[in-house]
Amino acid sequence: MAIQLVNSITELKTASASLLAAKGAGSLGLVPTMGALHAGHAQLVRSAAAENDVVVASIFVNPMQFGDAEDLQRYPRSLQADLALLETGGADLAFAPAVEEMYPLGEPMVRISAGKLGDKLEGAARPGHFDGALTVVAKLLHMCLPAGDYDRPTGYRAYFGQKDAQQLTLVRRMAADLNFPVQIAAVPTVRAADGLALSSRNRFLSADEREAAAVLSRALRLLKDRADRNEPLDPESAVDLLNSQPLVDLDYLEVVDPLTLESRAENCRETPFTGEALALVAARVGPVRLIDNAPLGY
Ligand code: PAF
Repeated sequence: MAIQLVNSITELKTASASLLAAKGAGSLGLVPTMGALHAGHAQLVRSAAAENDVVVASIFVNPMQFGDAEDLQRYPRSLQADLALLETGGADLAFAPAVEEMYPLGEPMVRISAGKLGDKLEGAARPGHFDGALTVVAKLLHMCLPAGDYDRPTGYRAYFGQKDAQQLTLVRRMAADLNFPVQIAAVPTVRAADGLALSSRNRFLSADEREAAAVLSRALRLLKDRADRNEPLDPESAVDLLNSQPLVDLDYLEVVDPLTLESRAENCRETPFTGEALALVAARVGPVRLIDNAPLGY
């Protein structure tokens, strides 16, 4: 079926209600995006389509989560290509609101606070980013909530990529802490053949930078292999690998608890690795800040 494009919240509610009614009030899967879609997003949509009767994808470049106007301005926009990708993946409805539709009163005076989980790692480099991301995710979750489904959360799922691990942790925490009636589903990172995690920002890398960027996933692989063998992780050697690449300016490589994002580094040097952790890396490569992560021990 051809995907329907709607731009207003009223159209969104009418269209999703009639799609759900046609399926006998089935389940709805939401895939929030900022557009500039790639194979990683296609995977989110396919997962949503496999598990739900109706799939809604939002396309909204959210000004609230950008630190400086320049990055917001140059964020890639490609609506027609995005719609084609969503349709192929099995989405029924694309919701692409204007800024005025999402924020009719201007920038929200009341917003979601990511708290201390939002101040570290990516949040330290991008102050306010996670408050902005959570605020728009909260709004989208409310706008797309299937009518009459407040007490039937299994009928409502939202899909987020594992690549943005801190965002995923925060969205899960928001849904749990604030009783959002939705299941948050995580979808594994999609990678290029050399291991680089797909990202809308990769298109800004030069050929040399693109080649150099693959070192991020190689460093994570090193840690993952050691975790799989229950060896000490020795994160310093992964840092050395990252620093050996002159085009890569490392911000952090951290091994953290997957739920609290507290550092587990103290356990990683001499003692054999046990349990579960998340290795997170962030680096600037040319004009782009890249992030990646690897779940360890599971
Ligand atoms: O991950 C993203 O693309 C964005 O942060 C999201 C979840 C769509 C909110 O704007």
